[in-house]
Amino acid sequence: MLTCPSCGQENSEGFRFCGACGAALAPARVREVRKTVTVLFSDVTGSTALGERLDPESLRHVMGRYLEEMKDVLERHGGTVEKFIGDAVMAVFGIPTLHEDDALRALRAAWEMRDRLGPLNTELEGDFGVRLEARIGVNTGEVVTGEAASSDRLATGDAVNVASRLEQAAAPGEILLGEQTLELARDAIEVAPAEQLSLKGKADLVAAYRLLNVVEGALAFERLDAPLVGRQEELARVRRAFEQAVSERRCRLVTVLGPPGIGKSRLAGELGANLRGEANILVGRCLPYGEGITYWPLREIFAAAGAEDELEAALAEGAPEEIFWSVRKAFESRAREWPLVLVLEDIHWAEPTLLDLIEHLADWTRNAQLLLLCLARPELLDERTAWASRANAQTLTLEPLAEGEADELIESLLGESQLDEKARLRVAQVAEGNPLFVEQLLAMLVEGGEVDRIPATIQALLASRLDGLPAVERELLERAAVVGVEFEWEVLGELAPDRHRPAGAQLAVLVRKELIRPHEAIDDAFRFRHMLIRDAAYERIPKQLRSELHERVARWLDGKGEEFEEIVGYHLEQAYRSVAELGPPGERVRALAEQAAERLAASGRRAHARADMPAAANLLERATALFAGDAPQRLSLLPSLGRALLEAGQMEQAGSVLAEAVERAQTAGERGLAADAAVSLSYLQIQTSPHEGLYGEVERRVEEAIPVFRELGDEAGLARALGVAGTLRLWRGEAALAIEDLERAARSARDAGDRAQEADSLEYVLVAMVWGPTPVEEAMQRVKELRPRAQGNRRLLVDLLRVQGQLEAMQGRFVAGRDLIAQARALGEEVGLELTLASGVAFQAGYVELLAGDAVAAERELRPACDAMERMGSWGTLASVAPWLVDALLVQGRDQEALRLAERWSAARLAPPEDADAQAGWRRVRAKLLARKGELDEAERIGREATAIASATDFLDLRAQANADFAEVLRLAGRPEESAAAVQEAIRLHEEKGNIAAAALLAHSPASTPAAS
Ligand SMILES: Nc1ncnc2c1ncn2[C@@H]1O[C@H](COP(=O)(O)OP(=O)(O)OP(=O)(O)O)[C@@H](O)[C@H]1O
Ligand SMILES: [Mg+2]
Repeated sequence: MLTCPSCGQENSEGFRFCGACGAALAPARVREVRKTVTVLFSDVTGSTALGERLDPESLRHVMGRYLEEMKDVLERHGGTVEKFIGDAVMAVFGIPTLHEDDALRALRAAWEMRDRLGPLNTELEGDFGVRLEARIGVNTGEVVTGEAASSDRLATGDAVNVASRLEQAAAPGEILLGEQTLELARDAIEVAPAEQLSLKGKADLVAAYRLLNVVEGALAFERLDAPLVGRQEELARVRRAFEQAVSERRCRLVTVLGPPGIGKSRLAGELGANLRGEANILVGRCLPYGEGITYWPLREIFAAAGAEDELEAALAEGAPEEIFWSVRKAFESRAREWPLVLVLEDIHWAEPTLLDLIEHLADWTRNAQLLLLCLARPELLDERTAWASRANAQTLTLEPLAEGEADELIESLLGESQLDEKARLRVAQVAEGNPLFVEQLLAMLVEGGEVDRIPATIQALLASRLDGLPAVERELLERAAVVGVEFEWEVLGELAPDRHRPAGAQLAVLVRKELIRPHEAIDDAFRFRHMLIRDAAYERIPKQLRSELHERVARWLDGKGEEFEEIVGYHLEQAYRSVAELGPPGERVRALAEQAAERLAASGRRAHARADMPAAANLLERATALFAGDAPQRLSLLPSLGRALLEAGQMEQAGSVLAEAVERAQTAGERGLAADAAVSLSYLQIQTSPHEGLYGEVERRVEEAIPVFRELGDEAGLARALGVAGTLRLWRGEAALAIEDLERAARSARDAGDRAQEADSLEYVLVAMVWGPTPVEEAMQRVKELRPRAQGNRRLLVDLLRVQGQLEAMQGRFVAGRDLIAQARALGEEVGLELTLASGVAFQAGYVELLAGDAVAAERELRPACDAMERMGSWGTLASVAPWLVDALLVQGRDQEALRLAERWSAARLAPPEDADAQAGWRRVRAKLLARKGELDEAERIGREATAIASATDFLDLRAQANADFAEVLRLAGRPEESAAAVQEAIRLHEEKGNIAAAALLAHSPASTPAAS
């Protein structure tokens, strides 16, 4: 038979074109797949000694008997005996077809092999006077093998070597198993840890476990019974069917369909509990494999009813019709007296005869209150397309749990255990409403597993589901998986071996099997039902083929528009990554890496320009990772990457990237790049490594860089350099001059088309206007003028909003101020502006609360912001913001805490002496603190320092604040007149600024009314 690659139709050998659709029938190719299988090695110990004692003829007979027995055991458990190497047996579970319980099957086989040796040894001892002892190793892991249909089924992979090593390390009579096998069968076996193994060519030791017992009839892993969530509607429907069966006294057949783990058995269990006292409920399970399993569920049912003899008698009749008749009579007679519910679990594994029997019962049962409740996975319908299409039958498909229900389940399964929010979110996302997946993911996390790992149990379930599909469907899914969770119909043609788009009917089959579904919003596009199904399909594809397919998707998307460039870059990147691990890169592979990097870098720069910092950092990081360490293209990306990391609040990484860029550029003689990186590094250092003389150093570096940029015509570089110079000027306390510098920098940036840099400079223009001599009214005007420039630049918009919020509050409009700041915060969170959020938005929010007289709210804003800046290592800004948190604590009378904070975040340690704002701010709050402790002299000294530093600046509010706080010191020192004068000066300065709210607050402070103290 030849399967048509296009429509799936089976054609006879010798046909060159498909009889159904006319597509060319390619000669059968051997396709390779990657699979996770379980490998078993067994060996007879001491066979050399045996060979010396026995005549070769006898030895041959002894070994023949042994191998015959072992092969029998292995095959009954579904293993494929791959080879005999001398006296050793190697069997694989999962080839040709995977089963979700391959690991447990292998262990059951191993256990039975050992048991079998007893009787065999009795036989051999009698015949030849010898006894055999065996050792066994079992291991699970990924291998490469031929597709199910091909004859090449050799399994190749490290997992095989490890299994063999485990076998060699086992003592005679012992079974050793590996880590993943244990994980997959953990609840059905008992083990003891064995010594770890070293493997040739491997640095890490391999964990090994000794098998102590395999529990009869146990499941590979436990299913839990957290309180039921949801499913009320489904329960009610089954209950109605039951009530009908009772009232009409006729048989009803309900089939519950759904993928593994969705809750079919659980639903049946709940129904059972629900009907207790109203009906007799008997359960029988179909088994995936084994001898004599056809009627196994009936055996369970009759045993539960205490009527084994009755079944034996029926089965003894031989012919199916006779058996069916007797079985029906047995049920009818019971269901006449009292309602009977038969639950038949997992009928997708049922032998056809059993399915016939169920249909027979549904059709022929008369005058009996019988409900047949069948549970099955969707593949049941592959064999029996017309299942349950009779009048007294219905099917019920279990959908994933709703989001809220899944959360409820997570909550109740966690119980006392703790799980951080990120991990919890990840569980909900990955499980997509499948309760079994929720259980397995949580179990893994609670045992300390890594958040992004997928438990082997889930992987085995999904992989076996795919492996059981017909080849055409499986290959279709694999190709779709390369595209992603969502894929267009059209691109599948691009990826097909014959370049033909698959027939719609083929996709419809996959939809029916609940593997994919039509896209909700895009025509002719589909989505995988579950992210994990996509992953499982993807993981099957050999890496070489993955690479080719990714490249084809990239070429298909290429040229469709700029917005696809990132996706093109992703596919080229994957095309490269898939094969990079396979060996030294050839020309094609190197070219892929380069093309991928170009695309990612271009998208990264665009993300930077629209201020999507996490995206920019991510894209640029991936782009740089694709080049060799010393590639010139990589070097040219490093400065942008460093800046993106800085904005995203990853100071340390930003620092090392920029430092590397400076060094490499200098070595390579790239003056422009070296200057660019050096300027950005300086800017970072202002934040992160304050020390005496830093400002001078940075100014020198900027001065050196400016002529280089001029010479090379690098407007963007020039803009950044001017921006840094302006920023420094601002921190020195010269706001008016800084604004001029920064405006110039912003214009240069705009001319250079560098919108990110423009926003950067304008941000500081705004900050300088808020702090400096610009009256509030005028600053407000400027904010409004700048608004159109924020079009398409969310970073600038965040700055405008937050600054405007502060200005509103300064004029006493707190509601409007808070509202604007909230908008800034929402937007900043959206684009991941961590640094701006912590040092800007949160500061503004806290400051507004202080102006509004709500110190508790101010603390709530400022404390997490200070902690975040500390975490990021943004010292300079932390030093400027911390004094306001101290203020918030002082207003609440929490002096001790305030003192501790002032020490922990002292400007002396965090900021260079040139940082006027930080130095004055820290001193003004310390002076207050000391005065309140009664250390009046020291308080006065420091308070004077604060006002002196502040007076040297044109920061009107800072000067006002220093005076106001000094007034407080004087008041406590019992010098009311001087105190009142200082307050008046402070009020005057606030009024000059137009900070009405701050002036009003002072007018009501105790220091302003000498008579009161
Ligand atoms: N609605 C629910 N509320 C709480 N737990 C649930 C719910 N549904 C399922 N579970 C739990 O999820 C796990 C998987 O459910 P269940 O065993 O019923 O799946 P299944 O559909 O029968 O899967 P399979 O096809 O593998 O037999 C069980 O531990 C079960 O207790
Ligand atoms: Mg079940």
